[in-house]
Amino acid sequence: MRKLVLTIISSLFILSCNDDDDITVKLGTGNQLGDNSGGSSASVYYTPTSTLKGTATFPIGVAMSQNQAGSANFTAIASKEFNSVTASNEMKFSTHSPAQGTYNWAPGDAIVNFAKTNNMRLHGHTLIWHQQVPTWVTNFSGTNAEFEAAIKSYVTEVVTHYKGKVASWDVVNEALNEDDSLRSTIFSQKLGSNYITKVFQWARAADPTAKLFYNDYNLESNITKANAAIALAIANSTLIDGIGLQMHISITTPSATVLNTIMDNVVATGKLIHFSELDVIVNPNGSVSSYDYATALTQKNKYKEVFGIYKTKVPAAQRFGITVWGMRDVDSWLKVNGNNFNDYPLLFGDNYEYKIAHQGVIEALK
Ligand code: G3I
Repeated sequence: MRKLVLTIISSLFILSCNDDDDITVKLGTGNQLGDNSGGSSASVYYTPTSTLKGTATFPIGVAMSQNQAGSANFTAIASKEFNSVTASNEMKFSTHSPAQGTYNWAPGDAIVNFAKTNNMRLHGHTLIWHQQVPTWVTNFSGTNAEFEAAIKSYVTEVVTHYKGKVASWDVVNEALNEDDSLRSTIFSQKLGSNYITKVFQWARAADPTAKLFYNDYNLESNITKANAAIALAIANSTLIDGIGLQMHISITTPSATVLNTIMDNVVATGKLIHFSELDVIVNPNGSVSSYDYATALTQKNKYKEVFGIYKTKVPAAQRFGITVWGMRDVDSWLKVNGNNFNDYPLLFGDNYEYKIAHQGVIEALK
């Protein structure tokens, strides 16, 4: 009996030591992630010895909300790990302008103050997008010329308000369809098919020093759409400073091969490149019921791959940085707003535990 017990104990020890991710310290207790199913003693969390911003040679950003600006825990980790922030919702059209000619600056200014206090770069998100648009825009009943004057005024007011406070803007967001055509929106319909150029011109005129980005999703996986964004940037070469690839990806897609191919094409534009909203879902087809070590390790490796490709492919002068779309899993857009999506897409657990995905990023950055 004693021999059997010793055999089991030594087997467990060997299992743990054979694993190159055998970090077993689990920080925090609040959430139930990392139950280590499968018999491994390895944890989905680890104890970090390096910080993201201290290891990276380019900016590392996080998306945040006004509420988080008031959280001591969030602030402690954000200021330690990140040197760039993007407002998740506070600088969008519906937040800024509830009525035509009326501006609500308080939410955005809270993010400005957070960035300033914590010595972080602020990336503006986003001027023109077909979502989170106020009803005065969607219900606009004037002429197209009046619509254009109203939108020009909005863009000018907003960019002027944040001039000297934001380093950059996602000027136009998600304007392309998956087949490379222009998405039909209230903006394309009323401002014309060249509306993207107009909006960039207005933004440039209001703040000539801000870096201006075109930002979209699936650019990292759909080569056709990526080429359309590239064509847009080349056609507006003096106005578009950079391309934002949102990078809402999964542990399985895009493959390294696809991402490498797309990055070659994007890099060839010479534009700044921002991985602007990175998260890595682990449950793309709903088959994952718990966040076990094997799943966390796969996710860690995907994060490592993405940061590695960015570091390898993007020349230093084009590295605007990588921004993760939220800090903790529980903060993710996939988990809030009633989505309740069973996923764990970010670098920190619900109680600010450091996930091994963070370790994967550090390994890629070193
Ligand atoms: O603030 C209200 C709250 O008062 C209300 O009780 C609650 C009820 O659902 O809604 C809250 O507003 C929500 C807001 O997030 C803040 O949580 C909105 O309904 C919800 O639509 C909004 O979702 C945002 C989403 O964009 C809108 O499409 C997400 O937070 C935000 O992370 C997400 O970010 C987008 C990027 O801007 C563009 N790329 C895709 C990315 C993910 O969808």
